[in-house]
Amino acid sequence: MNAAGALPGSVLVMGAGSIGCYVGGCLAAAGVPVTLVGRPRVLDAVAQHGLTLTDLEGNARKVEAGAMQLAQAVPVGATPSIVLLCVKSGATAEAAAELGAALPAGTVVLSLQNGISNAAVASKAAPGLKVLPSMVPYNIAELAPGAFHRGTTGRLMSVEHAALKPWLATFEKAGVPLDLLADLRAVQWGKLLINLNNPVNALSGLPLREELLQHGYRRCFAALMEEAIGVLVAAGIEPAQVTAVPAQRLPTVLRLPNWLFRIVAARMLKIDAKARSSMADDLALGRRTEVDALCGEVVRLAQAHGRAAPRNAKMVELLDGEWPKPPQQLSPDAMCRALGI
Ligand SMILES: NC(=O)c1ccc[n+]([C@@H]2O[C@H](COP(=O)([O-])OP(=O)(O)OC[C@H]3O[C@@H](n4cnc5c(N)ncnc54)[C@H](OP(=O)(O)O)[C@@H]3O)[C@@H](O)[C@H]2O)c1
Repeated sequence: MNAAGALPGSVLVMGAGSIGCYVGGCLAAAGVPVTLVGRPRVLDAVAQHGLTLTDLEGNARKVEAGAMQLAQAVPVGATPSIVLLCVKSGATAEAAAELGAALPAGTVVLSLQNGISNAAVASKAAPGLKVLPSMVPYNIAELAPGAFHRGTTGRLMSVEHAALKPWLATFEKAGVPLDLLADLRAVQWGKLLINLNNPVNALSGLPLREELLQHGYRRCFAALMEEAIGVLVAAGIEPAQVTAVPAQRLPTVLRLPNWLFRIVAARMLKIDAKARSSMADDLALGRRTEVDALCGEVVRLAQAHGRAAPRNAKMVELLDGEWPKPPQQLSPDAMCRALGI
């Protein structure tokens, strides 16, 4: 609902997975007409069970399947007010091309995706659409068919655009508050630094909290982050602070012994036991991960500035090197050895 109490329009979610079902579901629960475009695996579950949306604050919402439109492709003649692009990075170009072919020119698309380049990739595939880089700060896990859980906190971010202003009150009321910034690049890099834990988490095979409580895995995360921060300095990019601890201090905090880390990083550990990284979900489903959009982006930025980022490159190799063969889970010691720590 906007300030005048009216709904600002309809929303189309492109890629109904963890983020799409959670954010789209919250908006539907607030009365927004929502279309979920996704795959049969997810849509059949939503059709059967509706959506159950829970969070670490203990809230639980139910959205009946009939309250949303479910579609395996962008419906012909669709004219959503805004689109939430929620596919994984590897699927961005194809999904954007589908949107571009079906929607009116100028439709505003929020790229609710990790990494740096998804909005640019989508714009290239669908030049008629207005794609805005956006950022999802929290973790969403699919706990059961149709059941999505927000395991951490934060506010969505996107780029200032007149079409989004009328939506702010609705997103707030729906429990998925959205902030608009003039430029999202610093925030995207700040988030990417934190996301460097995703490949560590995926290869650990553990829930996020359990993984972060293992000193060896934290050393790996710290090493990847430190290397990336060095590359950002060389590139003249100052990452925004997206967590309680500034990114530059995080490697030191991560290397603390467990007993001290539990105290110093108490806020960071406010992740409930169910939360996993979405990269871990990809491995569980036998899908290719987004490691190239995270560690690979660090490697490319390093190369563009005459440097190397061997640890991030190694992470790409560990996860992607033998694709489609699934990567091996690694113990903390084995991962440290692989990264040369
Ligand atoms: N989950 C999180 O906690 C989290 C947090 C912050 C940011 N993010 C970011 O948010 C983005 C989405 O992540 P996610 O975890 O929500 O991914 P996800 O659960 O894999 O959801 C994406 C869904 O979109 C489907 N899809 C792909 N191409 C499609 C197309 N052309 N038409 C219809 N459906 C299509 C995928 O199906 P197939 O895979 O079968 O093709 C999948 O079911 C990623 O960039 C991720 O890094 C995630």
